[in-house]
Amino acid sequence: MLKIPGMIDPHVHLRDLDWSYKATFAFETAAAIAGGYWAVFDMPNTAPSTVTQEALQTKLKRIDATACCDWGLYFGASQTGNWDQYPVDGTCGLKMYNNATTGDLLLDNQAVREEHYKHWSGKIIAVHAEEETVLEILALVRKYRVWTHFCHISTADEIRYLTAAKEEGLPISIGVCPHHLYLTQDDLNTLGVFGLMKPELKTKADQAALWQAVENGVVDIIESDHAPHTVAEKQSDKPPFGVPGLETTLPLMVLAMHEGRIDEKRLIELLATNAQKIWQLSPPEGTYTLVDVDAQYPIEREYLRTAVGWSPFEGVRVFGKVREVWIRGTQVFDGGKILVDEGFGENCFGL
Ligand code: DOR
Ligand code: ZN
Repeated sequence: MLKIPGMIDPHVHLRDLDWSYKATFAFETAAAIAGGYWAVFDMPNTAPSTVTQEALQTKLKRIDATACCDWGLYFGASQTGNWDQYPVDGTCGLKMYNNATTGDLLLDNQAVREEHYKHWSGKIIAVHAEEETVLEILALVRKYRVWTHFCHISTADEIRYLTAAKEEGLPISIGVCPHHLYLTQDDLNTLGVFGLMKPELKTKADQAALWQAVENGVVDIIESDHAPHTVAEKQSDKPPFGVPGLETTLPLMVLAMHEGRIDEKRLIELLATNAQKIWQLSPPEGTYTLVDVDAQYPIEREYLRTAVGWSPFEGVRVFGKVREVWIRGTQVFDGGKILVDEGFGENCFGL
């Protein structure tokens, strides 16, 4: 049995509020626990977007009352310049969307991006930046020295830019998603709309560059980018981008261990301790996950807890069953049932 201390997924979209028909904090944080997690950090491209004090307070109240696992919330940077609304504390960071995605939080103006870097006094900025946009953000990191987490990096070029930036000594970290490691654009033939997400699936050469960066230590975190959309929405004329991932990330990384790509130590860094260091959190006493790393099984939708009930990895034979999850000395999962009520979860950046 492998013991992992305080697993964190710093990149999830739990929905709720006006998007409760897709998924809710209660459902998706239960899915997070079943996936082995202590804590998840929710992105601000919700409905309403988390870009004002009022929207943040509404979200804080709702997640505090209904979350099963511990959590953090990002504040969103807006194109119109919402620095007068920035929270003083209580969030896990500022999120900047610098390329198009779900929601309406696109920042395509470098001067506005710079104002956000100038004004944000929190510890972390997390960015959605693809291809050349990575270089534009790196210019701001170089100037303002705010720790910047590059979310869901997906190409060989981006890995090249960021490896050089790390060698230069810039304060950055890199997140990669399991879907970019285990799927490529070739899989779109079989996955169809269920393989659509942002950043999109890439080539086999990009995939190989990502694996190399996971293996050699350049990648800091494996993040799910858990983005539940209903089956009906995915099958509609305008399928939204995003795939669920909270319950498949750990088993896919245990599969990577069985494939000889990473060892136990690296798995624990990628899923727990690197995020703890970057966000400066120590897991509270009695916060860990026990995983039977030799249990092998295919991913099947009937066992998923996410409200949307599907996965792009259905049928993939993975390793690693979560047997127990403990948070703050309380057992919250026994391998079958969630053992705590809604509202048990606390804000990791708590007020
Ligand atoms: O595929 C995606 N879905 N990428 C994102 O950046 C956002 C997410 C969502 O919210 O659905
Ligand atoms: Zn995302």
